[in-house]
Amino acid sequence: MRKKIIAANWKMNMTLGESEAFFETFLLELGEDRKVEVVVVPPFTALAKVGEILRDVQTVKLGAQNMHWEKSGAFTGEICAGMLRELFVHYVVLGHSERRTLFGESDEIVNKKTLAALANSLRPIVCIGETLAERDGNQVEAVLEKQIRGSLAGLTADQLEETVIAYEPVWAIGTGRTATPEQAQAAHAFIRKMLAQLWNADAAAKVRIQYGGSVKPSNTASLMSQPDIDGALVGGASLDPRGFAEIVQETRKLLA
Ligand code: PGA
Repeated sequence: MRKKIIAANWKMNMTLGESEAFFETFLLELGEDRKVEVVVVPPFTALAKVGEILRDVQTVKLGAQNMHWEKSGAFTGEICAGMLRELFVHYVVLGHSERRTLFGESDEIVNKKTLAALANSLRPIVCIGETLAERDGNQVEAVLEKQIRGSLAGLTADQLEETVIAYEPVWAIGTGRTATPEQAQAAHAFIRKMLAQLWNADAAAKVRIQYGGSVKPSNTASLMSQPDIDGALVGGASLDPRGFAEIVQETRKLLA
């Protein structure tokens, strides 16, 4: 049984004060239930603060939005895995489509980061997904296959099982336009089939695949009830503590 994982990707939002205010409300709304794994991914500047808030909290894990693959050195503006570990970070989002399109991250770069994260006991959340032009051109499977082969090259089956994949169709991110549950399920099933082919069926059955792209409380149940959808990576709707808690509650309800 794959444990569902709901993550809040705050992107370049939330000051220290706003982060604190978020958790005052969110932790009350969330309660103690641990059926669903919950991850909050603040900007780097709020990691230490949020880590402090979560120190004695068992229900929420900490994630980071990016990292560099080298251990240390002359990489102005970058942050390495060891620095994240020091702040008790568990997960790191890699290859988000905004990183790929706005900051030039290739599959090769995402691959280096993924291997470095795993080597440092961080669990990568590796994002993949097609653009609207690629979907309209019937390229969805070809694009996903290329991203999987490139971003996850060289992982052992054990490492693959530690990795979370986020399927985020670029046209659904921040647009209010969600993939239908059927479209998302079809992409997730394809991703799992590729993983079985490239690694093995057992590892593929264990990998969690999140959906991301305009997830909100009202569409959570229909997406999360699909057999190959194992969670959500939530952007905009994760900035509202009540709304994000509701997304977790909707997911828990499906497991009750
Ligand atoms: P969104 O973002 O929920 O605002 O569409 C999702 C993401 O980019 O991870």
